[in-house]
Amino acid sequence: MSNNIEGKVVVITGASSGLGEAAARLLSGEGASVVLGARRVDRIQSLAGALTAKGGKALAVATDVTQYDQVKRLVDAAVETYGRIDVMINNAGLMPHSPLERLKIDEWNRMIDVNIKGVLYGIAAALPHMKQQKAGHIINVSSVAGHKVGPGSAVYAATKYAVRALSEGLRQEVKPYNIRTTVISPGAVATELPDSISEPDVSQSIHKFYEAFAIPADSFARAVAFAISQPEEVDVNEILFRPTRQEL
Ligand SMILES: NC(=O)c1ccc[n+]([C@@H]2O[C@H](COP(=O)([O-])OP(=O)(O)OC[C@H]3O[C@@H](n4cnc5c(N)ncnc54)[C@H](OP(=O)(O)O)[C@@H]3O)[C@@H](O)[C@H]2O)c1
Repeated sequence: MSNNIEGKVVVITGASSGLGEAAARLLSGEGASVVLGARRVDRIQSLAGALTAKGGKALAVATDVTQYDQVKRLVDAAVETYGRIDVMINNAGLMPHSPLERLKIDEWNRMIDVNIKGVLYGIAAALPHMKQQKAGHIINVSSVAGHKVGPGSAVYAATKYAVRALSEGLRQEVKPYNIRTTVISPGAVATELPDSISEPDVSQSIHKFYEAFAIPADSFARAVAFAISQPEEVDVNEILFRPTRQEL
């Protein structure tokens, strides 16, 4: 019986750690060919090697999602190697929380570049292929912070609200091309994400929160697999999940 994952070609940005890596492992185990993008090439190469050693198909392509050319190269490599792209997972992101009054303007710019423009570049790279195929699935990663804003998270939350807005616009626009769209909004999941916080006091409190509440990254991977594995006529548009104990 098909799981509707086996044989699919899945491109994942931010596949070098955390949620992207967990999704790559689960989807590869279910028979997908995975194409891994991130800047830390050693990590994606060794992940691709481990998946291949288990009998999977995997390719690693050095990718900085702030550069459209590089995201296009990632997607084109998937199509050249495996003949098509079935799923694009725009997952790369960072979360350097800080209060606005500390004026961490470089960090604001990086979040806008990676969390918003990176997603747009992923859409731009995948869409022409999917339109031509008249099939495909674009999965964008937002956050609980795309639903709720708190002190210190204003810019991060703004980028994640933007991902939801983009995903909803995309959903409506790609109807003629038989393309599915899903936005996934996780709560606290144990990854390297809090390491992107540079302000020591904020870093300490977020790390404490994650140590107390975060759930394993395969929670995200299962949400991705759920959306992909639905019959093609079923479009799961939004998934919001949290640790059971997370109040926020
Ligand atoms: N963990 C959570 O609690 C949580 C909750 C809600 C949403 N999210 C979202 O989930 C996504 C994945 O985060 P994570 O939790 O898995 O954190 P993570 O372990 O820090 O992973 C972040 C990934 O993004 C990649 N990345 C960062 N900047 C990049 C760039 N310029 N170009 C290409 N890749 C880049 C990193 O790869 P390189 O550094 O190797 O490039 C890494 O693979 C993010 O969008 C995050 O906002 C996470």
